[in-house]
Amino acid sequence: MTKRLQAIRGMNDILPEVTPLWQGLEAILREVATAYGYRELRTPLVEFTELFSRSIGEVTDIVEKEMYTFADRNGDSLTLRPEGTAGCLRAALEHGLLHNQVQRIWYCGPMFRHERPQKGRYRQFHQFGAEVYGLEGPDIDAEMILMTARIWRRLGIDRQLSLQLNSMGSAAARAAYRARLVAYLERYRNDLDEDSQRRLTTNPLRILDSKDLRTQEIVADAPQLIDHLDDASRRHFEGLQVLLDDAGVLYEINPRIVRGLDYYSRTVFEWITNRLGAQGTVCGGGRYDALVEQLGGRPTPAVGFAMGLERLVLMLADNGYSGPAQTPHAYLATLGETAEREGLRLSERLRDALPGLRLLLNSGGGSFKNQMRKADRSGAEYALLLGEDELAAGTVVLKPLRREEAQQSLPQTALVERLRELLAL
Ligand code: HAM
Repeated sequence: MTKRLQAIRGMNDILPEVTPLWQGLEAILREVATAYGYRELRTPLVEFTELFSRSIGEVTDIVEKEMYTFADRNGDSLTLRPEGTAGCLRAALEHGLLHNQVQRIWYCGPMFRHERPQKGRYRQFHQFGAEVYGLEGPDIDAEMILMTARIWRRLGIDRQLSLQLNSMGSAAARAAYRARLVAYLERYRNDLDEDSQRRLTTNPLRILDSKDLRTQEIVADAPQLIDHLDDASRRHFEGLQVLLDDAGVLYEINPRIVRGLDYYSRTVFEWITNRLGAQGTVCGGGRYDALVEQLGGRPTPAVGFAMGLERLVLMLADNGYSGPAQTPHAYLATLGETAEREGLRLSERLRDALPGLRLLLNSGGGSFKNQMRKADRSGAEYALLLGEDELAAGTVVLKPLRREEAQQSLPQTALVERLRELLAL
């Protein structure tokens, strides 16, 4: 017996029943980003593996164990993008978008990480993200945070999200802090979870993020980077807080936010919710001022964020949002061969005259009763009936399906105006 074909674990189909929610969400994201002057950049889903290992960092979960990496037919090592920042920057460098100019960019699309699937965590998931190149002040960090806050308001989920802020300082401050942290953690080496013991030599800052309870207890008393920031980073962080206070954005400073990618410096932030169980981070981002140079460009400050669309969709669905209506306005039923032919012509004329009309034309024949059942099931507000009598008289019958109103017969020539009026098209 052949095995039944199925989708890959952690990779979901998004069925027509829920795509309106996705479309509504994406339309709002596009609208807000455009209103702030951000422009869309689309990059390939696949890049050379080296791009991700050099930017996200060799000793991160993503690069160590989550990437979909494979050899191309010519032997090149390629990887399905696990996030959008690296590809965006690669494209900006490649096309000279960073030279003496500021760029405000947004992107939206699927990302791939081989994680253990659970609610809110998938192997193919979608991100909406934004990146700004060429601005170093805290004002642009604030702009991006305000933009995300506006998105939450537009989606009606602002009360379900809270903002956590931290600063990762400069590379030098991080290196000095790292030594301090390792010295502290070494004293508890044997009590740390296995992963954290390994990270002690590879990526000790990530230990701050451990989910292990005993490790969390140890970490609670560890020295904090935020107390050992370099002066410039401290001023930047204070500047950001003033701007957020001015704008009335509430936030909490959380010294344990270190993010799972290595490219960050100075500001990092996460928007979190308690509505999604373990996968409560809806949006994360921050500054990565050293990355452009690290990838071979001239030193260029950069900052960005990305949000997980599946997590937003879960929250929106929970709130009863289902996106813009897509049910047909009208269902055209035709009775008899001649009416069927005329029906196709009539429906095209209606579509010409009313481009916003959602019209479902009956196909596959069927009795009157059968067609009315299909009309009802389609969710249409009106049925349009075209039979022998109507053909002869040049009329059509308009029958409301959702209201207790009498049907009426009207000349085909008057139908466009009547529909325009009824449906506010
Ligand atoms: P990230 O924190 O890895 O950051 O991902 C951003 C968001 O993507 C997360 O907060 C989460 O909502 C969503 N996400 C991540 N992994 C999954 C998954 N397996 N399933 C479902 N949703 C997921 C970045 O990717 C950075 N590139 C953000 C950034 C942009 N930093 C600067 N610019």
